[in-house]
Amino acid sequence: MQPIALAVIGGTGVYNLATLDDVQTHEVETRFGTPSGPIRVGSLLGHRVAFLARHGEGHSLPPHKINYRANLAALQQIGASRVLALNTVGGIGDDFGPRVLACPDQIIDYTWGRISTLCEEAGSDVLHVDFGHPYTPMLRSKILAAAKVTGVTVRDGGCYAATQGPRLETIAEIARLRRDGCDLVGMTGMPEAALARELGLDYACLAIVANWAAGCGDGEEITMAEVLSNVQAASNGLPELIGELARG
Ligand code: HPA
Repeated sequence: MQPIALAVIGGTGVYNLATLDDVQTHEVETRFGTPSGPIRVGSLLGHRVAFLARHGEGHSLPPHKINYRANLAALQQIGASRVLALNTVGGIGDDFGPRVLACPDQIIDYTWGRISTLCEEAGSDVLHVDFGHPYTPMLRSKILAAAKVTGVTVRDGGCYAATQGPRLETIAEIARLRRDGCDLVGMTGMPEAALARELGLDYACLAIVANWAAGCGDGEEITMAEVLSNVQAASNGLPELIGELARG
């Protein structure tokens, strides 16, 4: 059996990879508990790719209830070592409007009360992993290269603000994130990225901008219908990009 070339974690609006062939389903238990749902492993353009819906296939888990540790450990248990995180986000920076795809290179974590380390249990080794570059630089380069080959426009860089949710932010909160230097805002980027680093996984994010964050752009009210339709429109080129990434 071919090794798993790439694992993909889908965010809001991305609940499957419709282009996977010969799909096998893995229900995995981990030392951290049960992941958000089954892992679907199939073939994409000739490469084995695993897919997990972060919020569950029916979007039943809010961001603070996701078992991020179990999700990543489950992907590692079935043999994945590279993870592409798809994160649906709001755009803050002027260049990060709806339907933009971006590959951020920095994170600021505003979440609280989530289990954000593997060394939570008494007796576990304390890990102080380097996190200066929170996304694996080599995997980021490969995402950008795959985007170029497949003709998908992806912005290189940006700072991802991870907020607690599940509510969206106030205009004042987004103004503060902008002053902090954040370009994108989402609810699931952390602790996922830090846990991936602790587990020794290669991990990078492809952010899908679904809406202008509160008070940005046209300042209109954000609706779930807008979020889902923008994610769908922005995701058109993803199967080719993911296939190309799995190849290299
Ligand atoms: N804020 C936080 N998370 C999000 C947003 C937003 O505006 N849009 C999609 N996920």
